[in-house]
Amino acid sequence: MGFMTIDGQRVEFTNEPNVLTVIRNAEIDIPTLCYHSELSIYGACRLCTVEDDRGKTFASCAELPRDGMVIYTNTPRLMRYRRTILELLLAAHDRDCTTCVKSGECHLLELAHRMGVDRIRFKNREAKYPIDESSPAIVRNPNKCILCGDCVRMCDNVQSVNAIDFAYRGTSTLVTPAFNKTIAQTNCVNCGQCRVVCPTGAISIKTNIDEVWDALADPNTIVVAQVAPAVRVALGDKFGIPKGENVMGKLVNALHRLGFHEVYDTTYGADLTVIEEAEELLERISSG
Ligand code: SF4
Ligand code: SF4
Ligand code: FES
Repeated sequence: MGFMTIDGQRVEFTNEPNVLTVIRNAEIDIPTLCYHSELSIYGACRLCTVEDDRGKTFASCAELPRDGMVIYTNTPRLMRYRRTILELLLAAHDRDCTTCVKSGECHLLELAHRMGVDRIRFKNREAKYPIDESSPAIVRNPNKCILCGDCVRMCDNVQSVNAIDFAYRGTSTLVTPAFNKTIAQTNCVNCGQCRVVCPTGAISIKTNIDEVWDALADPNTIVVAQVAPAVRVALGDKFGIPKGENVMGKLVNALHRLGFHEVYDTTYGADLTVIEEAEELLERISSG
């Protein structure tokens, strides 16, 4: 156990893995783009940078807490740094925000608003990479990538798949499958976990919404919906229904009103899938 002083407040810490966690435990909201507690620390975005009493700056996510530390999280210098970082990220980014799939939930845009970035002094040097739509599950748009590495670490640290990684150097750095293959040519398992952590529209979930509307509008097509178990609880969140409530009845009703002829609940099928997946995992583990 130890104590540090954060913005003039004496704060106790015990086994926190980094200064950032101590700051957040003290209910100070500090911006981050590349820190996720379940992933390894990369220290790429530098938004979490803080200043100590000697004027030294360091990334708080990559620094161990030490007894007696005196740090500041929001000095004019730090705010200037954060704005410049965001300006530089945006200068190398496809800023077609109005039609971006992440519009309304983009973490980069949210931080830019929060830090008061209202102009970008640097020339836009966004590269033009092809969009990879080869996967049945995800779409990769490297033009919106800010190289935070969150997806790379998720695919490696958590999923152990390593379908994507950094390639090239300097301003040509790119997050991509090896040898510029498409995602469909890798061993990607379509889990979508890279999308969960991606702060921008660089990785998005492929949707089939247009095909569904077309099918619903076709009088010669019987349209059947099959709902995965997690959806009947997760959907409620979107409508402000208390967490954990099963909204299957409402869901079936809504799907029928949209024009679906049959709606099936996959509960039992999902149990079988889980058994299947567990068996495959055991096989993969035993084969190294
Ligand atoms: S979908 Fe899963 S396996 Fe595929 S690249 Fe993303 S994290 Fe890796
Ligand atoms: S694709 Fe998304 S998560 Fe991956 S490095 Fe780029 S911005 Fe970060
Ligand atoms: S959150 Fe610390 S460097 Fe990105």
